[in-house]
Amino acid sequence: MNKELDFVKDMFDRIAPKYDFLNRLLSMRQDIAWRTQMVKAANLQKNSRVLDVACGTCDVALEVSSQLMGHPQIFGLDFSFGMLRLGKQKLINQDKKNIIILNADALNLPFQHNIFDAVFIAFGIRNIMDRQRAIKEFFDALKSGGRLAVLELTTPEKGILRSFYLLYFQKILPMIGSFFSKDNNAYSYLPDSVLKFPTPLEFSKIMKQAGFKNIRFKQMTFGIVTLFVGNKP
Ligand SMILES: C[S@@+](CC[C@H](N)C(=O)[O-])C[C@H]1O[C@@H](n2cnc3c(N)ncnc32)[C@H](O)[C@@H]1O
Repeated sequence: MNKELDFVKDMFDRIAPKYDFLNRLLSMRQDIAWRTQMVKAANLQKNSRVLDVACGTCDVALEVSSQLMGHPQIFGLDFSFGMLRLGKQKLINQDKKNIIILNADALNLPFQHNIFDAVFIAFGIRNIMDRQRAIKEFFDALKSGGRLAVLELTTPEKGILRSFYLLYFQKILPMIGSFFSKDNNAYSYLPDSVLKFPTPLEFSKIMKQAGFKNIRFKQMTFGIVTLFVGNKP
């Protein structure tokens, strides 16, 4: 594994115990609504086969399971053991036997091609530098007619809101994050990685280059989060 991937993996291993708590706190519980919207956008059926890439503590996989209430086959994949360990505990506590979790890299998915009805990645693509390759992996894993849904933190593009957001994100959030997680690096890395993330139009182009069609995006909560959806023809 290269240094950049090691850095991200180690960081998530370290912050895992505080991850869910800080997610809810720093997003003022908006993260739950954002994931709900993402899963709805995939238009799943009861027997859909679903992959949640960079599943972390399994919140997306659990949302899929609760929206479908049937027995969809759900796979969650992440390269951080620390995050998966907490996810596994949540699955046991909620008795979710239809969610299978795997320790693997999003850049080398351990699946055959053309087998998933939907692939999700929430707040994960920002951490993957070779986005083009990752999106191509997701494209290959999907069946024809399948859908990719990507949820990611983005930066409001202009106006006073952008100034407020930058103040919160660059000054206040790292202080709260490092206080609770006792990790200075992780919550400084967060604003850096978000500010470096492409604009919604630029990211849509990456999806297009991988082969996706009918790409659309929806900015939520004043543009601090964007949901991207694309179809495999
Ligand atoms: C911000 S967390 C998001 C977790 C979860 N999807 C959520 O909605 O809360 C990002 C996750 O991406 C994982 N990740 C980052 N790069 C990865 C890669 N190349 N392969 C697999 N997992 C990766 C990290 O380990 C971490 O659990």
